[in-house]
Amino acid sequence: MSKFNKSKPYNSLPALPPKEDVESKKILLKTIKASRALGKLNGALSNLPNPNLFIDTIQIKEAKASSEIENIITTNDDLFETLIAEKKNSNFAAKEILSYKSALYIGLEEIKRRPFITTNLCIKLVQEIKHNKSSIRVTPGTALLDGRGQIIYTPPSGENTIRTKLANLEKFTNEYEKIDPLIKMAIIHYQFEAIHPFADGNGRTGRIMLLLYLKLEKLLDIPAIYLSEYIIENKLNYYKLLREVTEKGKWENYILYMLDMIEVTSHNVIPKLDTIVRLMDEIEGIIKVKKPKLFNKELLDIIFKLPYTKRKNLIEAKLGTPKTVGNYLMELERIGILRSKKVGKEKLYINHKLMKVLE
Ligand SMILES: Nc1ncnc2c1ncn2[C@@H]1O[C@H](COP(=O)(O)OP(=O)(O)OP(=O)(O)O)[C@@H](O)[C@H]1O
Ligand SMILES: [Mg+2]
Repeated sequence: MSKFNKSKPYNSLPALPPKEDVESKKILLKTIKASRALGKLNGALSNLPNPNLFIDTIQIKEAKASSEIENIITTNDDLFETLIAEKKNSNFAAKEILSYKSALYIGLEEIKRRPFITTNLCIKLVQEIKHNKSSIRVTPGTALLDGRGQIIYTPPSGENTIRTKLANLEKFTNEYEKIDPLIKMAIIHYQFEAIHPFADGNGRTGRIMLLLYLKLEKLLDIPAIYLSEYIIENKLNYYKLLREVTEKGKWENYILYMLDMIEVTSHNVIPKLDTIVRLMDEIEGIIKVKKPKLFNKELLDIIFKLPYTKRKNLIEAKLGTPKTVGNYLMELERIGILRSKKVGKEKLYINHKLMKVLE
């Protein structure tokens, strides 16, 4: 165990792989459970008629939860309104959350082109999250504080030191094959947070990396999982466990925590997917009975892409002229499927039943 002093930059943070045992019997048993749950979720997602349809709605929730860790809380209403309405001066918190979501999308695009998790990818993510040109910390002075302002951890300092540690992390992530990918995921996350390469946004970047890593490992093809919610609910424990790895080289409880996060969140999402699919069927049925001429598969998809929609979305999907699609939306409101709401100069239409499932 390298010497650790919480007030001094931890430049001796050990390189990966860890020297300690990270495959205890307890960890291996939990890995099996977590893999099984994740496999079930991945299967449920691939059975959906159009799995991509749900990414937006589910990720908005994840983005909200992730940003909540930093206390950027906003209501679902504000969030969806900001996403869909072209409001100027819209809610700052909602914008923060949407930047988390766009960072995830950028990450997904990047790994499609280059299937690795790299330092440069992390920099791209944090820049999108922070809307600025953030990069590796160059000035000393970053420290993590507890609620009372006491230093609990001082990450490594010096750009070269940080880059060397990130290079080791990159190599471990993309090349090391002796550990199960789910255990590896937990180790990668710890190491990234301990390196703490950026002045801010390390938590959010690290959580997006988890999803990208699961995708690269083909464990979760679509990032339809609310990892952040679990972390928020168990935040104190999460912080304590990270510290135990640093201070005592105790990996077991931390890894078990991360595996439990995978298991619990997978179990939570599966029924929600089922509910959304059933709701889609139900609404399809209502439209077919009450307004058969209105029924159109693409229209149905659009009102399930996000719980809020507007004329422009329908026009962009080539469903008709502004006048025609305006009529579609009004008809859907008349039969009780959508509810309109004026935001600025625009009229938004809410799929209130879907909204309810998401809340
Ligand atoms: N003792 C610790 N050692 C290493 N990393 C830690 C420790 N305590 C917390 N962290 C990590 O630091 C993150 C916070 O860092 P930072 O403020 O840069 O990220 P953020 O994205 O702005 O915040 P948040 O994660 O709260 O949304 C936490 O999410 C956690 O992952
Ligand atoms: Mg922060």
